Order: sequence, then structure tokens, then C-alpha cells
Amino acid sequence: MRFPPSILDDIRNRLPISEVVARKVTWDKRKSQPAKGDFWACCPFHNEKSPSFHCDDRRGIYHCFGCGASGDHFKFLTETEGLSFPEAVERLAETAGVALPRPDPRDREREAVRVDLIGAVEIAAKFFEARLRAPEGRPARDYLTRRSLTPKTVADFRIGWAPDERDALKRHLVQNGVSEEVALAAGLLRKPEDGRPTYDWFRGRVMIPIHDERGRVVAFGGRVLDADQQPKYLNSPETPVFSKGTMLFNAHRGREAAHKSGTITVTEGYMDVIAVWQAGIRNVVAALGTAFTEDHVQRLWRFAPEPVICFDGDKAGVSAAHRAIDRILPLLKSGLSFNFCFLPDGKDPDDLVRGQGADGFLAELARARPLSEVLWDREVAGARIDTPERKAALEARMEDLVRQIRDDRVARRYRLALRVKLSELFWAHDRQGRGGDGRFGKGTGAPGTALAGPTAADIRPPDDPELATVERVLLGLCVEYPDLYEAHIERLAVTEFRVQALEDFKRALYRIAVDLDGTSVASFYEGLDGRFYFVLNEVHGDETRTDFGAVLPRGHRLRERLPILKFHPGQTFVECCFEQMLERLSLRALAADIEHDMANVGAETGEDAVARLMELSRELNRRREELARREQELAEEAKAIRRATTGGNAAAPVLFQ
Ligand code: UTP
Ligand code: MN
Repeated sequence: MRFPPSILDDIRNRLPISEVVARKVTWDKRKSQPAKGDFWACCPFHNEKSPSFHCDDRRGIYHCFGCGASGDHFKFLTETEGLSFPEAVERLAETAGVALPRPDPRDREREAVRVDLIGAVEIAAKFFEARLRAPEGRPARDYLTRRSLTPKTVADFRIGWAPDERDALKRHLVQNGVSEEVALAAGLLRKPEDGRPTYDWFRGRVMIPIHDERGRVVAFGGRVLDADQQPKYLNSPETPVFSKGTMLFNAHRGREAAHKSGTITVTEGYMDVIAVWQAGIRNVVAALGTAFTEDHVQRLWRFAPEPVICFDGDKAGVSAAHRAIDRILPLLKSGLSFNFCFLPDGKDPDDLVRGQGADGFLAELARARPLSEVLWDREVAGARIDTPERKAALEARMEDLVRQIRDDRVARRYRLALRVKLSELFWAHDRQGRGGDGRFGKGTGAPGTALAGPTAADIRPPDDPELATVERVLLGLCVEYPDLYEAHIERLAVTEFRVQALEDFKRALYRIAVDLDGTSVASFYEGLDGRFYFVLNEVHGDETRTDFGAVLPRGHRLRERLPILKFHPGQTFVECCFEQMLERLSLRALAADIEHDMANVGAETGEDAVARLMELSRELNRRREELARREQELAEEAKAIRRATTGGNAAAPVLFQ
């Protein structure tokens, strides 16, 4: 519904924003001046010790000078309680005593029906609660005790018992003035096809009320006591107030905790939610026995930017995650995603908190994996990549997936990350196939892995000092020419740098390229962790500076090592040098592979393996010759560039130092 601005102003005028905000903060007495409508508090949006959160009644706004959060009455509720905008307006209109218009009579009618249905469901909820407390509720109470639910949890969740009778609830409803028609529409009764009288939908079940986001009971889930009975769970049917495809169990309670903690956990069952809640973890909800819908996804993102979905670690759980991914993928946005937690040994969250407490469950949540990784595993698992056609097929499948992502920026990031991961995968595969030692697989093999900061001791002299310089120059160029870096990111990813700190640095650059939005020089520098300034300075900086946070002039060392840069060669020329250096590193790796394999040739080595080895060393020689030829050409071009800038009296060109 759209609200006329006058109504919104009316609410703002009648209700000081400090009253809205005061429910979440404690005003700082010394700093605030209530008479002027001027209030200060510690910010509810970020952690702080001294108050920098300002609330201004005269202007009707809040602003935090610490984290920049700001907004009006409505924004405050949408941000702190996860209400939708209309919900925030409704809530505040009620508090402020402002009447909201109901423009459409059909709306009014529908709302009246809803009110009737909710009234009937509430009567049913009270009835079930009372039945649980009555003597007949004994077996159900014992059952709940066996499941370790405390009386407080049972009361908080308003758990009840539906008697095992044909129409106990129906009679109770009629006595309380609820018509059969309304009870049917509320999903509380069932109507047989053959014209016999209606009877209770739920019979002989433990009743778990399902609330809407405003905290009104709108439906139930009923569980049998005895696991042999089917179905184990029965939900209310869809009604005008209950829709499984949009609602989440416990949303009204979990929402606030989600906002406070910035995360939300989604379990498969509502019993899981109840158990986890009882263990003290409040930011938890469940879907209602249906697959994830687009509505669920959007709703969960209102609670937290990266909800964690918890599945059993078995086959069924993994395939449920895969289905969820297909639903989520088109909807991904910058900053919005999902993580997946697979619980071990066929356990559900309920089992886990019962066995290992909240900490055990939190430890599993901490191991949750990002959507992109689960997706990657799904696509690569079992994929055969031993021929060019099969490699191409995998590539094509990845591209199809990326095309589903509607957000351009996210799609671009995925495309880039997948390109690099694919080329690593293919490279590692081919290398293994050649009988190399599969060295790439050492460690985690993932270039995005966080790395410990390098220290001076890490910059050891490598086996080939000249190539160590090449490694440094390459990295310097990556920083100075991000376009070059992006164009060659795949080859760089598979090129091994021998100086460990430089290898770490290369991987950190990769991570930045994948994580950060821009690839401008500036964003490279900003994205670099402080720990990497040491290396950055080593490859790129000015040795006279010691404050690595401000490496200036940029590229100083790079120009010392690759002096031709002082003569401002064009990008094409720089790129040729770049590729030339990459090739040198590739050939070094190839030579090492061959050497290693040669050393292992023995009597038992097959004919084929030897033939392949010979072919490889011929390739090495061909590429070495080509490298030398290109080097000659580049030296000539460098000479020409110098001559053009210095007017003829150029000293001998120095390309690589
Ligand atoms: P589970 O079968 O995993 O239940 O169903 P659970 O949470 O472990 O339950 P307990 O511990 O045995 O009591 C998960 C969810 O699937 C839906 C319900 O929403 C349930 O919470 N479900 C399950 C049904 O709708 N009907 C069923 O028959 C079973
Ligand atoms: Mn269970």
C-alpha cells in the first residue's frame, strides 16, 4: 500500500523520533539536552563506548557520527526490527494515534476476513494450550519432556495439544461464536467430499503455533507423538493469512536478534528452531516444510545480508542446498548472499544442541561455506576434464550459471573467479596427467585463502636471483597496471613464484581482484591489508620511506628494476615485457618438472611416459628459442623508445635488471 506523504508527516510530527529510538538506546545524560530535543547515545548500529549517535527531534532524524547510520522514524524500525516499510508505518501510526486510510473497500473487506480468521486461530491456540495442561495432555507433556523442552519454552512457543477426537475443537469454536465457515477458511476444519459434517483438521497432535511477522498466530504445525504414525508433521492448509511459500517459522522472534547480531540461521524443522532457541541462540528461523522460494530469499535478506542455511550433511541435505542455490543464484546482489552449513553424522540442529550445547552448534555454523564454493563443488564434482571438449563443456556450464545472475556486478565477479578457478583446475589436472608432482595441490590450493603476513625472514634469496627480480617486476607491474593484471590473471594464478612472500602477495592481489569492486590502482592499494605493505614496498616502493601505509612514489623500485619504464613506453610494449617475463617463469616451472621426471625415470618407466617426457623437453627447447628471439626484439624496441625520448644519445638499453 502507498501512504500519502501527509500521513507520514503526521506521524513524524506527533511522535518525537527520540521516543521511537529510546526503546533501543539509553540516552547519555550529560551530552543530551531534552529541552531542545537533542539526544545522544551509544550507537545501536555499531559497537562503541562513547556516544556518537545523535537524535534530533526538531528535524525528526537520527545520525551516527561513528558509523554513518542515519534515517527517520520508519527507517529506524526497518533497520532495527526488520519490519517492512508498510509494517513500520502501521506500527508507528498506531503508537501516534494516526488513522491510516483504507482507500479500497475490497482491501477493507479482505482485512475484515483476515481479522476474523486470526481471531478464530487465536481461540484455537488457547484451546490447544489448555488441552496440553489438562490431564488428557499428559502423554504430550511427557513427550515434550523427553525432547528436553522446558516448561518455559513450551509456554513461550505456546505449544499445545489437539485432542484425539473427531470435533473437540469445532465444538469449542462454535461455543465461542466462530462460525463453521470461518473455522473452515482458517484451516481448522476439514470438509469431507461425501457431505458428512466437517471435523477437526488436527487430531491427536502436539501443536506448534506459527506466527506471522507481527506475532499473530496464523497457522499450526502438528506433530504426532508416535513416530510410526504418518504424516509425522501436519501443517495448516494455505489460508488468506497463511502462506508457506512466504512465511518463515519464528520470524517475529528471530528478526530482532538477527538485526542485532547481523546474522540469521535457517533450519529445516521447527523443532530445530525451538531447541536452538532454548539453547540461547535467538536468531533462528525455519521454512515450513517447503522448498525455498524467492519470497523466502528476499525476506531472509531483510534479516541479514548472509543468512546461513543449515542442512543435514547427508545426500538429501546436499541436494536441498543445491536446489536452494538454483533459487538464489538469479537474485544475488552486491553484498547479499547465503552460506551453507552441513551438519555431520545425519544430525539435525536439535540433536546437536542437545548433545553439544549451543557452542557445538555455533562451531558448526562457523564452518558454513559460501554459496559460491558450494556451487563450485557441485559443478566440479565428478566432472571429467580430460579432453578439450570436456573442458569446454564444463566452461560452458559455468557460463550458463553465471548468466542466471541478474546483477551485473555480481555476475562479473563470479565470471572472473570461475575463470581463474577453472584454469587452475585444468592446469593442475594436466600437470598431474603429465606425471608432475601435482605441486599446485599443496596447501589448500585455493588462491583466495587468507595468508599470514610475511616478515623479512620470508624474503629469502631464491635459487635463481635473476628470476627473483622478474617475480618482483611482474608484481610491480600488476600493481601499476591493473588492466594488465586482469588480462593475465589466469596465467598469473598458475605461475608459481618461488619467493614465498611474493607468492603470498600474488595470491593476496588475486583475492583483492576478486573481492573488490574496482581494479583501479587506488583500489588495489586500499584493498591491501597492512601486512602486505612490507612486500608492496619491496616490489614497488621507495626504500627511503618507512611508513609503509603511504608508499610513495609508487612504482619507484619498479622503475629502478625495469628502467625502460622511465621512458614512458606504451601499454602494448609494457604488456609484451610482462608476457615475456611470465613466459620465463613458466619455462622455469616446466624445466623443473622435466628435471624431476627425468630423475625418476627407471627400468619400470613405460615407453609412453618416456615418449611424453621427450616431447616435453622438445617443447621446452622450442619455447626457450622463441623466448630468446622475442627478448632480442624487445631490446630493439626499447632502444628505439629511448632514442625517441632522449634525442639519439641513448645509452645501451636495459630491459630487465
Ligand atoms: P524433519 O523430518 O527433519 O523433522 O522435518 P525434525 O525437525 O527432525 O522433527 P523431529 O525432530 O523428528 O520432531 C523437517 C520439517 O519438514 C516438515 C516440517 O516443517 C518439519 O519441521 N515436514 C516433515 C512436514 O511438513 N511433514 C512431515 O511429515 C515431515
Ligand atoms: Mn529432529
